[in-house]
Amino acid sequence: MSVLITGGAGYIGSHTVLYFLDKGEDVVVLDSLEKGHKQALLDGVTFYQGSIHDEALLSDIFQKHTIEAVVHFAASSLVGESVEKPLDYYENNVIGSHTLVKQMVKHEVKHIVFSSTAATYGEPKNIPIKETDPTIPTNPYGETKLAMEKMFRWCDAAYGLKSVCLRYFNAAGADPDGRIGEDHTPESHLIPIVLQVALGQREQVQIFGEDYDTKDGSCIRDYIHVMDLAEAHYLALEKLRRDNTTSIYNLGNGKGFTVKEVIETCREVTGHEIPAVVSERRAGDPATLIASAEQANQELGWQPRYPELKTIVEHAWKWHVANPTGYDKEIAVNKR
Ligand code: UFG
Repeated sequence: MSVLITGGAGYIGSHTVLYFLDKGEDVVVLDSLEKGHKQALLDGVTFYQGSIHDEALLSDIFQKHTIEAVVHFAASSLVGESVEKPLDYYENNVIGSHTLVKQMVKHEVKHIVFSSTAATYGEPKNIPIKETDPTIPTNPYGETKLAMEKMFRWCDAAYGLKSVCLRYFNAAGADPDGRIGEDHTPESHLIPIVLQVALGQREQVQIFGEDYDTKDGSCIRDYIHVMDLAEAHYLALEKLRRDNTTSIYNLGNGKGFTVKEVIETCREVTGHEIPAVVSERRAGDPATLIASAEQANQELGWQPRYPELKTIVEHAWKWHVANPTGYDKEIAVNKR
């Protein structure tokens, strides 16, 4: 029996593939490589380059392999871009997932672990955020992920498809052994951007706003190690195997750090000065996002192994130093 991991060559997907392989799972990866990197896939993985929109390819995969469950990452995932291109997000995320799930139902694959997001909550009503809090997304990215969560629920009622939706907070870090890491082009996430400044690839980091209602005025986020996320996917699959029930979990450390604190931690870890300037707020950024992950702790038995921000940054830094231009060695630094 195999597990199909869509988007398995992406940042969180590839770390999850690694974790699953370490656990002895048989893994089949489907990734279009639009954003993912073939180099992020280690030996032992059966790989198909293609899209979740490709019904014929999906059908072929479900026929060739005995797929027990799907772990579904393949999606567009940038908040800002989603506001500019909502139709792309509906197409890639909602229509793409619909095509995938239709094939799952046709081939009687009954379990899916789904990559969801804190963006489903929108501007939070309570901190820390619980799974039972209102979900009122403030951008198409969160909206499309929420639509998919709802689609899975209805598919449970109609076809017995059981899902675990994992709402990540801010994924960061890299494989502690340095085998794979985070590489987006262009990069938009805070920690890799700050580390690019430390590497001399950017002059400075911009702090998007310092007039938020937080202790130092910059936004607070809950950073969670990518390998802890990977483990949560494994535990979610184990729960599906064990209980065969549909559920939703937040994944975070329950602790927030301001943008300024993140930059300070990066200075400490890298030993570089890392110039920072304050700029305008970025549209759509909530002031504070912190998870209550109590439910995942209790029901999945999930306990983050790397909860310290310093450790998260150390692991990210290790990979960045060894791979200053990311996976594609030929990409010029000024293209990043
Ligand atoms: N930030 C800066 N300067 C930068 C980049 C980011 O100040 O150059 C700030 C942002 O304003 C935000 C924080 O750093 O306050 C983190 O920003 P990221 O872009 O790293 O992450 P986001 O919080 O915007 O979003 C991430 C994922 C989303 C997910 C969300 C859930 O990218 O997919 O976490 O919390 F929905």
